[in-house]
Amino acid sequence: MNKQIYLDNAATTPVDKRVTKAMFEWQENNFGNPSSPHRHRQASKIKLEEVRDDVAASLGCLSKEIVFTSGGTESNNKAIIGACLANREKGNHLIVSAVEHPSVLATADYLEKTGFEISYLKPDETGLISMADLEAKVQPNTILLSMMYVNNETGVIFPIEKAGNFCKEKNIIFHCDAVQAFGKMDIDVNMLNADLFSFSAHKIYGPKGVGGLFVRDGIALEPISFGGGQEANKRAGTENLVGIIGLHKALELMQNRHEECQDISDLRNKLERKLGEQIPCCVINAKDVERSPYISNISFPGLDNQSLLLKMDLAGLSASVGSACSSGSIKQSHVLQAMGLEDAIINSAIRFSLGRFTRAEDIDAAIEIIAGLTTF
Ligand SMILES: Cc1ncc(COP(=O)(O)O)c(C=O)c1O
Repeated sequence: MNKQIYLDNAATTPVDKRVTKAMFEWQENNFGNPSSPHRHRQASKIKLEEVRDDVAASLGCLSKEIVFTSGGTESNNKAIIGACLANREKGNHLIVSAVEHPSVLATADYLEKTGFEISYLKPDETGLISMADLEAKVQPNTILLSMMYVNNETGVIFPIEKAGNFCKEKNIIFHCDAVQAFGKMDIDVNMLNADLFSFSAHKIYGPKGVGGLFVRDGIALEPISFGGGQEANKRAGTENLVGIIGLHKALELMQNRHEECQDISDLRNKLERKLGEQIPCCVINAKDVERSPYISNISFPGLDNQSLLLKMDLAGLSASVGSACSSGSIKQSHVLQAMGLEDAIINSAIRFSLGRFTRAEDIDAAIEIIAGLTTF
């Protein structure tokens, strides 16, 4: 069987062997619970706090502002529900962008059922959110804005710094889902004026099921899990220390991000250029705005993305449309819909996402497969 080419790194990345090694070495020699009252605790507690210090330093915040979680979904749920419930007496209105990950949009739906009012920021057809729209949506009872850093379907980079400054001026809590930016971009949560900042390990070659949330000192969060005082009473449940060690190693390896980003950007550009030459009708979505080099969203008008994905898979190429359900089935993109794109573009869009282990020959082979399946 030929090698299956993997261009779905925005869904998850392969775990870097150096990460696996660091996790394995820890697991083989340690098992203590960082909250236990005896000596077995010590090494685990020290390690946990060392990692917390390093993660905090990478985000430019204080160690006590980092809460480890089970990943981006939990961090988003916790940040939004926690902050809204803790600030309910100040207001019941929140603003979210319409192109957020389902872990934000479904959380907003849940809050709406419990009496909160939600306003959605729609992007224009380039994929960008406008600050004017944000300003127009603010009400006297607005307590929170949730806006992602990098869109997971189009790679569009949102105006996070401007949004953060604006929220600070208006005294609105600012939550940023940075799952697709963490480790890949230079981040300082204070420069961004973020109050809550979600991240995950498995998009940067770390393990699945571990991530974190920056909670600015002084921002109150109602708990969403109960029965434990871990993480300074901010997240009940024994920490997944082996996973946290994996996150730590993965983050350390991202220190070469500038070089890696340049290589990936070259590969992404090659993919888009060659596909444009070979399939003149293909459309690169959101191509005119600042984008992450890791993600390319391309439509093949006239084709159906569900069957195209299936054929690509059979031909040896794994890609995606963005929001895969746990069953592996596909929904049409709410992101491209919110951008107001035509049905022919939405229904034929495929997300190709690159990563550290993508090679030039993978891109060449992917182009050949795609061209073979899309030329009529
Ligand atoms: C932007 C964004 N937010 C949140 C998540 C959820 O993260 P996790 O898989 O760690 O729960 C993802 C995962 O695809 C994502 O892309």
